Amino acid sequence: MFVMKTIGIITSGGDAPGMNAAIHSIVTTASFHNIQCIGFERGYNGLIDDIHHDLTLTNVKHISHLGGTILKSARCPRMLEQKFRNQVIETLINNSIDGLIVIGGDGSFQGAHLLSQITDIPIIGVPGTIDNDIDGSDYTIGFDTASNTALDAIDKIRDTADAFERIFIIEVMGRHSGQLALNVGIAAEAEQIICPEMAIDPHLIVQNIAQHINSYLTDNGHASYIIVAAENTYPDGALALAELLTKQIGIECRASVLGHMQRGGLASCADRTLATKLGAFAVESLISGYNNVMSGQVNGQLTLTELEKTGLGTKQVDPYLLNIYTNKLN
Ligand code: ADP
Ligand code: F6P
Repeated sequence: MFVMKTIGIITSGGDAPGMNAAIHSIVTTASFHNIQCIGFERGYNGLIDDIHHDLTLTNVKHISHLGGTILKSARCPRMLEQKFRNQVIETLINNSIDGLIVIGGDGSFQGAHLLSQITDIPIIGVPGTIDNDIDGSDYTIGFDTASNTALDAIDKIRDTADAFERIFIIEVMGRHSGQLALNVGIAAEAEQIICPEMAIDPHLIVQNIAQHINSYLTDNGHASYIIVAAENTYPDGALALAELLTKQIGIECRASVLGHMQRGGLASCADRTLATKLGAFAVESLISGYNNVMSGQVNGQLTLTELEKTGLGTKQVDPYLLNIYTNKLN
């Protein structure tokens, strides 16, 4: 019977709070099963260039709360080339890796899927991204913390917006997904939320926004007014949108782009527990012989989804929340 002895781990793509908790969980679960772990640094770069170190119970102790990732993360365009993917396999073989765990987003899983086409070494994904845009898990590791970080920032902006009775456009991350924007927009009682899932005609965005601001101010008098916008919804970004509204339409507003602060900070309890479950389940799935799948949680149940299907983009924003917002708008 085959006995798994060594697992390789990478964190890849946009880092997310809770990645360290996933590493901690993988190493402790592996250790329970007498499996050693090796961490490769800076995403796929560490696998191509064979830069690694042992991950032991001692060096993953008390890391679960930390943002970022002790393995470092990076993009790695070389993975798009077959010759570098072959090099990854060589590194895995040279280090006697029996299974690889990739903690990252759907891009990282596309890379992992391609690797699994050229090796029998099993690969399991663990969904770590603040964007929550991965099919096969209701939540991704990092989304809860990023939501709270963004919400905290928006609450603070509300204070000054109230004091000055000002209009603000606050841009949140999410790449091409509105999960963060809708979540924090609802929680912050934003007067307006803009995200890709609303499929607003780009030519009508400015007109729609202006119309709503005007009618709101007519009904409410001078008041604070917050628009939470998902990045990439308005092609030129929140700063350009605010300038356009201010200078050309005559609605004075400020913009605030929250940016990378949303990726940092202590991981929330929800992210740490999710990371702990998904990390442990990834190890157990490797031991059980699974390959080319992602460990996720759907409706409270641990699930495995083919890596190839994690980036289909079928994940919807919560329709009930979206409906609540739409009703409020009308
Ligand atoms: P995320 O994993 O957070 O979605 P990216 O989309 O930037 O982040 O992907 C992270 C890394 O995964 C890329 O830099 C690259 O190394 C690898 N990757 C992404 N897409 C592919 C692909 N189609 N083929 C091979 N590797 C890929
Ligand atoms: O995928 C996570 C994410 O933070 C996205 O929300 C954002 O669009 C992107 O990464 C930013 O990437 P970078 O750190 O390369 O600027």
